[in-house]
Amino acid sequence: MTVETRSTQLTPAAAAYLSQPVDHCATLPWPFPDDLAEFRYSVNVDPAMVSRPTAAGEWGRTIVDLGGAEYVEIMDDRRRILDQDPDRVKLRPGMELAAWDLLLYYFRDLDRSYPELMHLTEGVDGDPLRFHWRNDLLGTDQVFVLGEWDSIPYGPFEFLAREVPDDLLLVTERDGRLYFDAGAVTFAAAWSVSFDVGMDMYEIHNPVPRLTNEGITARAEQFLMRLPADKVYRRVNWTLSGSGSRKLDVSLEELPEWGTDIPALVRDGRWGELQLRIEVEHFIRLPMTGTVTFNIRTHMASLAEIKAFPVWARQLATVIEELPEELATYKGFGDYRHHVVPWLRT
Ligand code: HEM
Repeated sequence: MTVETRSTQLTPAAAAYLSQPVDHCATLPWPFPDDLAEFRYSVNVDPAMVSRPTAAGEWGRTIVDLGGAEYVEIMDDRRRILDQDPDRVKLRPGMELAAWDLLLYYFRDLDRSYPELMHLTEGVDGDPLRFHWRNDLLGTDQVFVLGEWDSIPYGPFEFLAREVPDDLLLVTERDGRLYFDAGAVTFAAAWSVSFDVGMDMYEIHNPVPRLTNEGITARAEQFLMRLPADKVYRRVNWTLSGSGSRKLDVSLEELPEWGTDIPALVRDGRWGELQLRIEVEHFIRLPMTGTVTFNIRTHMASLAEIKAFPVWARQLATVIEELPEELATYKGFGDYRHHVVPWLRT
């Protein structure tokens, strides 16, 4: 195994990227269309890599949003969790080639999207299977051989998880059903990768009210089964989260660490410290194996930050107020939304 090396000196481009001012709203993927007043679950998929202007800025030009100045902090968090809890990475037997497929797809995409920061050299020493990966923001410098698991630390799946801020999920089709067959997930919103991996789409979505009854699980499954190989799609999902400290890891594994955050904020009426938690999920059919991705990038902005944009605060208040009881309960704010709505409106 070639061990990755880390340079301590940042390139000028990397230093400039990491010294951008932190502004959680400027790149926030606002989850609602302009005129939306009633939110319901749907198969809300759109073409990816399309820039979307918002009240505060824009988002969505690239598949991976590295996160600007926060990238290193997010990746430190991810790597700490992976070091402490190996169960956050689950790869079912037979998914090894899909893991290489994913790694190569993402490294090629990062090299294209961030040419000054991320570099993939192909065909090193004239060997078409030998690659050289460099990530100037983290100082990663790694040569690997496609298909040789031990040529890259942690294997290709976890290695990629340690380079990108997205949670990585892979689904494969068997007997007309889609199964969740691999996951490297450190930032799950109140679910657990080791509990869910191996389940089909219906089992996974069983806890979500209305989804399967209203035919949405079936339509989502059909969409993913027919996903073309030459187009990437995305979907946005949202909820409220409790951590004033912007805790990304609110997985079931960590429940004792975050379970009391929201009750404490509610007790003290600290509504501005609640976080709007938004997931951007990318659906890609990988070129070598046909495996489908459901990769999740989590963004957050506090309600205090949201309130600086009156059009956002008004829309969020309307959506939260109008949401049917069972959806509000599933999302976790059924018992305190009557406080949040007037706070957002004042
Ligand atoms: C177009 C495809 C999909 C749609 C429309 C969809 C829709 C949804 C919706 C509406 C929720 C509830 C989220 C909330 O209110 O916060 C949800 C939850 C979830 N989805 Fe999906 N989903 C899709 C694909 C997938 C795939 C492919 C996977 C896994 C590989 C997945 C894994 C999950 C998980 C783990 C949850 C949390 C469930 C829980 O509470 O235990 N979804 N999904």
